[in-house]
Amino acid sequence: MPTFQTSPGTRDILPPDAARWRQFNAIFADTVEAAGYGCIIPPIFEDATVFHRIGEATDVVSKEMYDFEDKGGRHVSLRPEQTASVCRAFAQHRPTTPWKVWYTGPNFRYEKAQAGRYRQFDQVGIEALGVHDSDLDVEVIALAWKFYQRLGLSNVQLVINSLGDDGDRARYVDALRQYLQSHQDALTPEARQTLERNPLRVLDSKRQGDLDVIASAPTIKAFLSVEANEHFEKVLTGLRALAIPFTQNEYLVRGLDYYRRTSFEFVSTALESAQNAIGGGGRYDGLVQSLGGPDTPGIGFALGLDRTLLACDAEGVFGAPKSSVDVFVVDVIDGTHALAVTNNIQDAGYSADRAFDGRSMKAQMKSADRSGARFAIIIAQDEVASGSYTIRDMASAQQQLVAKSDLVEFLTRNLGKRTPRRSPS
Ligand code: HAM
Repeated sequence: MPTFQTSPGTRDILPPDAARWRQFNAIFADTVEAAGYGCIIPPIFEDATVFHRIGEATDVVSKEMYDFEDKGGRHVSLRPEQTASVCRAFAQHRPTTPWKVWYTGPNFRYEKAQAGRYRQFDQVGIEALGVHDSDLDVEVIALAWKFYQRLGLSNVQLVINSLGDDGDRARYVDALRQYLQSHQDALTPEARQTLERNPLRVLDSKRQGDLDVIASAPTIKAFLSVEANEHFEKVLTGLRALAIPFTQNEYLVRGLDYYRRTSFEFVSTALESAQNAIGGGGRYDGLVQSLGGPDTPGIGFALGLDRTLLACDAEGVFGAPKSSVDVFVVDVIDGTHALAVTNNIQDAGYSADRAFDGRSMKAQMKSADRSGARFAIIIAQDEVASGSYTIRDMASAQQQLVAKSDLVEFLTRNLGKRTPRRSPS
């Protein structure tokens, strides 16, 4: 056992998986930038109070925050998510609305680590601030849907609900509390504890005794204002117009307290039910104001990168990209030729790797094979004497002699034109 290992709930993302992550982010950026979202990079830690706006009674805030006092005596926290940071940034910089941003990066929650649930996990997400229009809700959901499709996922379900406006939600929570209190005896001890803190969270319970009570609990629908109801109906109509299938679940309340009106989750039916939420989001119309900004509506989502990739694995789609270089240089003289040639090839815009430590021809050819290179360039005494290279097509094993001065032209002919990394001197 090595002396040091990663902490529980954290992982090293090694090649080629890290390349898969980068590709994931690139496809996400491409999808949302096509709809006018610009990239935002908030800090990874900030004043812990910012995150308290997620809801004092939520697990994320009350149990899972990585918060501490820094050397200047400030109470800071690693971010457990990025919506609160984006709203804090909006309140701080007051950009013109609509303000549409996207982000990617790690978040931290002190959770019980298990497959698909980590203490450091990555999310990609978007937030759009300053718009009440239900069409924006549809746009936001449609972008997540489009992204899942681009990854090749087909077993994703959109589950949607409306949590109404501030007053609606409060009235519903009261009614739910009363109902659950009157059925206390049938609830599990865990649910009874949760009920004291936050009645809405009882609805998340998957324990059998609780499920029976939840099945007859009041739902939020009866408490929605006329406006919230109309808004929700328009969102559903928009989703139908874009042929995005959805399931309504009146018990979907989500784990963060800032949600108003539209809230939704993406569930992978290819994953175990404990960790099958691969993304979620909704409106949070009061959040910016609670962070000291103007009264501004907002909506967005975050998709769990780690968990979405698990869903990809389960469906056998979006595998790790094959890492390979264009050219592998085999120099059996002293390595100095390889030094110059790899450098020139890279400058011409192609990728090139080489062997080190003066290894034998056989060992270098093995490395060339492993590199996945399309061509090996072989340099021995004969090649040096004739001012040329032997180029081996690694797939067909055919070899030919190419003059040194024709190398880039050879690569362009066989691999297509690339943009030089710097102009040749
Ligand atoms: P969330 O539901 O807490 O929402 O997280 C969104 C997604 O992040 C989850 O569906 C899941 O895929 C992933 N996730 C959460 N916790 C973990 C974990 N411990 N390990 C692995 N993956 C995890 C939010 O974070 C909101 N900020 C979403 C949002 C954006 N709402 C409006 N705008």
